[in-house]
Amino acid sequence: MLIKKRESWHLSENEVTDEAAYLSRRNFIRSAGAAIGASSIVGATGALQAASERSLLPLQYAKTAFDPGETLTPYEAVTQYNNYYEFGTGKGDPAEHAWRLEPKPWSVTVEGLVDKPGTYAFEDLVDMKNLEERIYRLRCVEAWSMVIPWIGVPLSSILRKLGPKPEAKYVAFETLADRNQMRGLRSFFKVLDWPYVEGLRMDEAMNDLTFMAVGLYGKELPNQNGAPLRLVVPWKYGFKSIKSIVNIRFTDTMPKTSWGRSAPSEYGFYSNVNPNVDHPRWSQRSERRIGEFGKRQTLMFNGYEEQVAHLYKDMDLKRNY
Ligand code: MTE
Repeated sequence: MLIKKRESWHLSENEVTDEAAYLSRRNFIRSAGAAIGASSIVGATGALQAASERSLLPLQYAKTAFDPGETLTPYEAVTQYNNYYEFGTGKGDPAEHAWRLEPKPWSVTVEGLVDKPGTYAFEDLVDMKNLEERIYRLRCVEAWSMVIPWIGVPLSSILRKLGPKPEAKYVAFETLADRNQMRGLRSFFKVLDWPYVEGLRMDEAMNDLTFMAVGLYGKELPNQNGAPLRLVVPWKYGFKSIKSIVNIRFTDTMPKTSWGRSAPSEYGFYSNVNPNVDHPRWSQRSERRIGEFGKRQTLMFNGYEEQVAHLYKDMDLKRNY
């Protein structure tokens, strides 16, 4: 991604991060902790501290056919190699610092072109009795990818409850922005304009693949992954998957997005995974699957072409990147 003030130390994460080295360092810390008897190491490493801060409840959910049949990315990588700039720009920062986030109780305000605006408790928005598991590929714009078993509900089940008006053409989302809980917001360098914002066209939002995750690997979402609820749009670059949502707004105009606002020539509204459209600073043809050696080809729409290509059938995807 891009940091607004491009300092000499700033390179995009895919230029600087060797995730294999990064994760093996973490694993080393972890196994050292296990061998020695964790307490002193736990105190010294934020990631482990984070894990111990909040116990994540197991969830009841139904298995589904949404499963690419690929090796799952290990839990440690999914929860310790993150992008959540509100907690810092390093891949380990969210796991280290997001323990300050308080996901319970949580409420979401709903506004705009909708029949039932208001403030909803998390429990009134997400039907916790009807959770399902969706195993999806996650392809970051930085050219790394994972395979993650999410738990949640289709976004459409939430939006239908709210009753979008026919004039609503888009839905916009906003992340919590709290300087007390999020150290990135107190940082001297302003990486992004807060709150983090994202949006979808209404038909994208209602697509069967579009998911609101409240958990992963069978348990509640860790804070660093966007507790208590975050979007998952598997055919789009990961930055569409906005975390810790506090506001949903229905609108008839295309909403601003955080990365689009920060660098419009690099990050468009659609952000569909597309190996034929390079990022201005790097190729999108291939990706590094976290935990694998070598690279694999990036697939059109991240491999979900059959389900979503029709949404863009008359569009020039080079112009609408
Ligand atoms: N949401 C917020 N609020 N802040 C962020 O910095 N990063 C995005 C997305 N959602 C981000 C965010 C990016 S760039 C990616 S790749 C995914 O979260 C990463 O999700 P993960 O950490 O659960 O893998």
